[in-house]
Amino acid sequence: MVIRQMEEKDIPYVHEIEGRIFSRPWSKEDFRKSIQDPHNIYLVVEQDGEIIAYCGLWGVAGEGQINNVAVESSYRNRGIGRKMLQSLIDIGRNNGLKSFTLEVRVSNLSAIALYHRLGFQAAGIRKSFYEAPKEDALIMWL
Ligand SMILES: CC(C)(COP(=O)(O)OP(=O)(O)OC[C@H]1O[C@@H](n2cnc3c(N)ncnc32)[C@H](O)[C@@H]1OP(=O)(O)O)[C@@H](O)C(=O)NCCC(=O)NCCS
Repeated sequence: MVIRQMEEKDIPYVHEIEGRIFSRPWSKEDFRKSIQDPHNIYLVVEQDGEIIAYCGLWGVAGEGQINNVAVESSYRNRGIGRKMLQSLIDIGRNNGLKSFTLEVRVSNLSAIALYHRLGFQAAGIRKSFYEAPKEDALIMWL
């Protein structure tokens, strides 16, 4: 398993996974713009030459705003999400980011468990933040 920086050539594969997992997927252009900004950090996890997971953050004023986290369903619950996010946080800290934040659906128990394991703490609720289906977001900070 290799964790490395997301590159332009990875975007079609990342976008295909994104479309299968999320009800409001990012476009290829969203990913392209995000990886081009040097303040941002985007990673992919590769196994046998295939992308099986990805994540990313926007670096804004010393904060890492984590906005994409996904692991292919057949590879979940093996610690891949944890290793990938730990790498993202480590690289972010090396780049001078002091804190990290994200939003997660209140029903997404596996993601919330993973974020707690990494040291994130719940800091509030954003009412009806998500569409399709409508749901509150839990705001978490590390
Ligand atoms: C959330 C996600 C990235 C986790 O990836 P992963 O590789 O399975 O993560 P890990 O294996 O490192 O950790 C998953 C944790 O959830 C726990 N878990 C799994 N199902 C659970 C459930 N129903 N309730 C509570 N905890 C659960 C696992 O036990 C594990 O915790 P542990 O390490 O303490 O045992 C993955 O499930 C995913 O891609 N989901 C769909 C996209 C998504 O929801 N992204 C997050 C948006 S904010």
